[in-house]
Amino acid sequence: MNGIFESHAHYEDEAFDNDREALIASLPSNGIEYVVNVGSTARTCRLTVELTKKYGFLYGALGIHPSEIKDIGDADMDWIESETDANPKIVAVGEIGLDYHWDKDNKARQKEFFARQIDIARRVSKPIIVHSREAALDTWELMKSERAEDCGGVVHCFSYGKEEAAKYLDMGFYIGIGGASTFKNAVRPREVITYVPLERILLETDCPYLAPVPYRGKRNSSLNLPLIAENIAAVKGIDVKTVCEVTKENAKRMYGIV
Ligand code: NI
Repeated sequence: MNGIFESHAHYEDEAFDNDREALIASLPSNGIEYVVNVGSTARTCRLTVELTKKYGFLYGALGIHPSEIKDIGDADMDWIESETDANPKIVAVGEIGLDYHWDKDNKARQKEFFARQIDIARRVSKPIIVHSREAALDTWELMKSERAEDCGGVVHCFSYGKEEAAKYLDMGFYIGIGGASTFKNAVRPREVITYVPLERILLETDCPYLAPVPYRGKRNSSLNLPLIAENIAAVKGIDVKTVCEVTKENAKRMYGIV
């Protein structure tokens, strides 16, 4: 089967409470071949592990999102490390990073947990899924100083320009492209799509958030990935089948799925 790789979803989210099982079960017959479900809190990380047990094609990532670190402590870090190390269905540490859109008064703590989770990824030899919003310079400087190139990974839902993309490509990272790249005002994402080689792009929805046009504002799901792939194909002037095939191989390589 030749399907699409969904590199970033949140199916444990309450937005899917009414139809989670039916929706996830329907993905393979709708051309979605692999899914990585991404944790963001201690609770959603545990739910992610449960989802990976139910579906063979669904893998997981465990990490604490920078906006969710308020009550996080050593026990959470220890659990993430041991579970990510021991569980072959857990293929990355994420999502982790810096977010100054929602919180600017805890930058030091955000950096501390970003660095600690990069360390975990290095120790368990798995890639990281980076969330960075309105924190371009600090994200880059921290990833340099913590030698994030040792782990590799993806900067997901990439929201910066092509100069920033160039720096992460140089570091060996992939660039995650999702629904925001289809919005009418998405000048910068289109420049990034043009600039980044297809071999370094991952397809993602970040569902239930960031539904692509024409579903902007509605609940998102992996079923919308073809719209994102079609937009990439149009911007790059290549066919959509190539976009789906190459991004699937990219994600399998990055997540270490054979
Ligand atoms: Ni996300």
